[in-house]
Amino acid sequence: MEIFEEKDYASVSRKAANIISAQIIQNPKSLLGLATGSSPIGTYKQLVEWYKKGDLDFSQVKSVNLDEYLGLSADDPNSYHYFMRQQLFDCVNIDINNTHVPDGLKAVSNPVEVCTAYDNLIQNLGGIDLQLLGLGHNCHIGFNEPADSFPAGTHIVDLTQNTIDANSRLFNCIEDVPTRAITMGIKNIMSAKRILLVVSGSDKAEALQKALYGPITPTAPASILQLHEHVTIVADTAALSLC
Ligand code: F6R
Repeated sequence: MEIFEEKDYASVSRKAANIISAQIIQNPKSLLGLATGSSPIGTYKQLVEWYKKGDLDFSQVKSVNLDEYLGLSADDPNSYHYFMRQQLFDCVNIDINNTHVPDGLKAVSNPVEVCTAYDNLIQNLGGIDLQLLGLGHNCHIGFNEPADSFPAGTHIVDLTQNTIDANSRLFNCIEDVPTRAITMGIKNIMSAKRILLVVSGSDKAEALQKALYGPITPTAPASILQLHEHVTIVADTAALSLC
């Protein structure tokens, strides 16, 4: 496990963007596993900047996103589809047909079919070359919430109150926050050739300490990253303060 300690969110974002751009330069056809939420916003902004300068080419890049809220359509401003278009896809020369986010709407009526299709998609695309992750306050990765066992493949999950509360900042009111989501499972994430976890802020310090040094347990899902052979943590001093 490789840990980069950065002074703040801006340098975390620059470092993470450096790692992703190196991946794209090394393999222009990379399959990137992408995340939403606050953590990667700065990283995407930096990637867009480098693309606009002419230093990055996304024309052959493919992507699969970790998760999506259940019941939200792709054009709902709170959906992760929408987030990805705003933050990255519409700002670079990626072919939108090569980008994939789980279908949160279809998954309401056909959960098994949609989840199986997403697992098959990742496999048929050759597996994830680099998976970008953020960290939940309760140690979730993707929307793999603390549980009795590690869920393997793409599945439907009931979000914990902790996650609903944390995500409510992006909604008009807490009642609008979906309570269920579709997410890649732990096996999908752990099968990525490389994992990049970005963490910022003292509010994540306890979760990061558990993830990196706590017992490996499904009650702290991110702790499984300790078993991955190529995981890179980019975190600021505040997030690493308990490590
Ligand atoms: C988002 C995702 C989540 C977030 C996590 C941290 O696609 O899968 O695991 O990475 O909830 O969220 P932020 O970055 O908003 O603190």
